[in-house]
Amino acid sequence: MENIALVVGATGITGSNLAQELISNGWKTYGLARNPNSNISGLIPVKADLLDKENLKTALENISPTHIFFTTWMRNDSEEENIKVNSALVRNLLNVLSPKKSVQHVALVTGLKHYLGPFEAYTKSGSLPETPLREEQTRLEYPNFYYAQEDAVYEAAERDGFTWSIHRPHTVIGYAVGNLMNMGTTLAIYASICKETGRKFIFPGSSAQWNGLSDVTDARILAKQLIWASTSEVGKNQAFNITNGDIFRWKWLWEKIADYFQIEFEGFENEIRPLEQELQNDQELWESIAEKHNLIENNLSKLASAWHTDLDLGRPIEVMTDMTNSRKLGFTSFQSTLDSFTDLFGKLKEEKIIP
Ligand SMILES: NC(=O)c1ccc[n+]([C@@H]2O[C@H](COP(=O)([O-])OP(=O)(O)OC[C@H]3O[C@@H](n4cnc5c(N)ncnc54)[C@H](OP(=O)(O)O)[C@@H]3O)[C@@H](O)[C@H]2O)c1
Repeated sequence: MENIALVVGATGITGSNLAQELISNGWKTYGLARNPNSNISGLIPVKADLLDKENLKTALENISPTHIFFTTWMRNDSEEENIKVNSALVRNLLNVLSPKKSVQHVALVTGLKHYLGPFEAYTKSGSLPETPLREEQTRLEYPNFYYAQEDAVYEAAERDGFTWSIHRPHTVIGYAVGNLMNMGTTLAIYASICKETGRKFIFPGSSAQWNGLSDVTDARILAKQLIWASTSEVGKNQAFNITNGDIFRWKWLWEKIADYFQIEFEGFENEIRPLEQELQNDQELWESIAEKHNLIENNLSKLASAWHTDLDLGRPIEVMTDMTNSRKLGFTSFQSTLDSFTDLFGKLKEEKIIP
């Protein structure tokens, strides 16, 4: 039987890279979003709002996917609201598809906040988990929308008889424009501003992040793991961490990024210096840079998600991820982290997002 993928959140950093990988592997691929673009050749757009059940039903009327890749979330003011909204996204979709009985596997993308707690608990929680983070770590006491999304998948799997996999990336590095969290693009925008103005490229995070070990997840390796787990017998009904497979210290990578853009940098010095503050008055400046270099997006807030970069780089502990589980089962893809960043910077230049 032909594999038919439904990528939910197809314009996002995870979803768009996954859609490309599926299409290049020969899958018939539908891409769902409220504003699905058709920039990806071969992707069949599905325009629907996951919070609107009737709209979702109509949009999916003639589509019977075999594989669901759930790569979306909505940002709310509190974790309580996150839980309500983000579990409804999953539940609504799986309820609408249930009568079709076409779904064989659901792959859900969550993240390391599974182990660290949600943003609002990040630095406040008294006990921090042991690193490297491992899938076997039990759920935290603190409420978490990832747990609610997982539970919605487990319930539907029990009811409808499909298999599932959960994928937990660290910070995702990859190409996407206008999505909620994109550290790679945020740093490229900041570095471009430094280059244009002669400002120093200041590390916005904590001492623990500057000095400690870290890893990240290229959106392309995440896509490969999603497809591997969804199609191999051994990848079913399990949760998997997913990172590039190398480790680094930000004090090493920050200098490499500064070298790439040929700018001066400053590392961690005495205190956290948030990027959100650093960029808060730069909208007009970005407009002039965009005009001068003929760039396609002059809205800084659409490109840079400084709040998210600050949260990830401001963590009070080093954070790195154990990859043993999927490796032992045969998923052996590797991605160089420096290449993740420089490939992205190259693509951002090519697409006229940065000078
Ligand atoms: N980005 C990271 O660095 C990172 C790191 C670790 C974990 N994660 C996790 O990975 C998962 C996927 O996140 P992401 O960063 O890939 O997301 P993203 O880039 O922000 O993309 C979200 C996608 O969902 C769509 N969408 C949002 N609300 C929708 C709705 N109501 N109905 C239909 N489509 C909707 C968006 O398009 P429209 O706006 O057009 O609808 C977009 O295509 C999340 O759980 C996130 O927490 C992300």
